[in-house]
Amino acid sequence: MTAPPIKHYLQFSDLTAGEYDYLLGRAALIKRKFKAYDKHHTLNDRTLAMIFEKASTRTRVSFEAGMYQLGGSVVHLTSEGSQLGRSEPIEDTARVISRMTDIVMIRTFEQSRIERFAQASRVPVINGLTNEYHPCQILADIFTFIEHRGSIQGKTVAWIGDGNNMANTWAQAAALLGFELRVATPRGYEVDSQLAALDAGSSQRGWRDFSDPRAACAGADLVTTDVWTSMGYEAENEARKKAFADWCVDLEMMRAAKPDALFMHCLPAHRGEEVSAEVIDGPQSVVWDEAENRMHVQKALLEYLLLGRLA
Ligand code: CP
Ligand code: NVA
Repeated sequence: MTAPPIKHYLQFSDLTAGEYDYLLGRAALIKRKFKAYDKHHTLNDRTLAMIFEKASTRTRVSFEAGMYQLGGSVVHLTSEGSQLGRSEPIEDTARVISRMTDIVMIRTFEQSRIERFAQASRVPVINGLTNEYHPCQILADIFTFIEHRGSIQGKTVAWIGDGNNMANTWAQAAALLGFELRVATPRGYEVDSQLAALDAGSSQRGWRDFSDPRAACAGADLVTTDVWTSMGYEAENEARKKAFADWCVDLEMMRAAKPDALFMHCLPAHRGEEVSAEVIDGPQSVVWDEAENRMHVQKALLEYLLLGRLA
């Protein structure tokens, strides 16, 4: 009998709408059990390897705590502290790590790097953020939206800021799950149509471009943003500060959205740059729920990639 193909989670489009439906429901059950101190040891004796080539707070803690809560354990690696930082080929690293652990999470630079790792891996690989995508974050954001407002289908999401890894992932999610995504970026920082498409080479667009961020927010159910300078782009920081000066999500922008619109930010945030303190610390902000929900949805994801659907 041939083994079933390994399921990786390298970008949002790697799972179907039906699989997301299952995962979001499963995450809700896992969260309820966590809140009730009810043991949920579906990954007893399994090991997650986490490789960080960029900094992290939320991704590290949510995967590590989550894996222990599932009955498993974790190994934590960084490029500086491992042979990756001394030019060991990523494929060789993948071959070795995937003989000793059951599943791998990587945070790295180019998407091609995680793809090369996955190609050589014997076990599932999860994208914990690349320059191009951040699928675990959008999974948590959608779960958070549903918790507060019900189904996201048919709703309007306004993305204000950089056409970055978060924006690309929101675009894939909009096309897959059926909500409207409006993207307002300064000129020169638009989302890349190829990266944001559901399928490579597809002309199907999951988003609409806006040059005016207030117009993008008009009537939106959710307003969301991210740092102006993502990890790996620090050399562009000063130029970006100038280009994004009018892209701060403030109370005026939130007033253009629906009165009950939510505000999200994947964090870390820079108050006074991409978002004002009144908005991120105000009543419409659900950023702390978003951060917590990373752990619940990722527990569902780890379980799903290793065990498939559970009753
Ligand atoms: N949102 C997010 O991925 O946070 P970290 O960079 O702290 O992991
Ligand atoms: N776009 C940001 C997200 C950080 C969680 C970055 O890539 O740095």
